Parts: sequence; C-alpha cells; structure tokens
Amino acid sequence: MKEAFSEGNQVVAQAPVLIFICADPQQAMVRDGVNYYLFDAGLATENMLLAATDLDLATHAMTGFKEPDVKRILGIPDGIKVVAATPLACTSQPSYEEAARERLAARKRKSMQELVFWNSWGVAR
Ligand SMILES: Cc1cc2nc3c(=O)[nH]c(=O)nc-3n(C[C@H](O)[C@H](O)[C@H](O)COP(=O)(O)O)c2cc1C
Repeated sequence: MKEAFSEGNQVVAQAPVLIFICADPQQAMVRDGVNYYLFDAGLATENMLLAATDLDLATHAMTGFKEPDVKRILGIPDGIKVVAATPLACTSQPSYEEAARERLAARKRKSMQELVFWNSWGVAR
C-alpha cells in the first residue's frame, strides 16, 4: 500500500493500522447544489483523530495518496470516494513515534483574534 502514498508520507509503512475514510456522495446531503460528503467525511475523520489521541495513539489526517491506486488495492467500488487516511500506531512503536513527535512539536496556531469574530466579520475581542 505504501506505493499509493506520496514520498513525504512513506511513514505509513510503519503504522500497524491504516484507516481510509470513504464516502458515498450519492447518500450525502445536497443543499443549494452543494454535496456535503466531504464535510461528513471530515467530521468522521476528526472524531477518529480525537478518539485515537485520547487512547494515546499517534495519528494524523492524510490526503497525500493516489486515490485510484488505493481503490484498486482495496477493491473499493467506482461510486465511492476515498477522502482521507489516518495511520494509527501505538506510541510504543519507536520509528512511527519519532515522526509523530516531530509533527506534534512544530505547531503554530493562529490567535483567537484572527479566528473568532463577534457579531460582525472581522470584529475581534
Ligand atoms: C486536508 C488535509 C490533508 C492532509 N494531508 C496530509 C498528508 O498527506 N500528509 C501529512 O503528513 N500531513 C497531512 N496533513 C496535515 C496533518 O494531518 C495535520 O494537519 C498536521 O499534522 C497538523 O496537525 P494538528 O492540527 O493536530 O497540529 C493534512 C491536513 C489536512 C487538513
């Protein structure tokens, strides 16, 4: 499966479990011409990331893979979209842990003033 992933994502080969989040756009809500399957898959992905983190398992969202290759390898039908992947590893596994630790250490966050507005766009407290 690692061949389906980009060069920067080869760490997936060390993860004992690799979860693919799939969606069926035919079954998703469509409103004003917008199909919400990506929103649904994003919610599901975030729930998995939070649950994994709570279990002290290193993980993160990935989209750096070739969808046709993943679908061929796993026999996923034509109408199904492979939206994201999350490698899942016990933090006791040294090589993957190293990559995960590096990822977690280099965090930069926007300030709340840049992200949260009150009553009108651009108004921060
Ligand atoms: C849509 C999307 C796709 C991503 N794809 C990859 C990826 O293919 N490989 C990767 O290493 N990180 C990828 N990332 C970044 C990580 O999943 C994650 O956002 C980053 O580690 C920061 O995590 P944090 O928000 O918990 O600090 C992606 C992020 C998003 C939002």
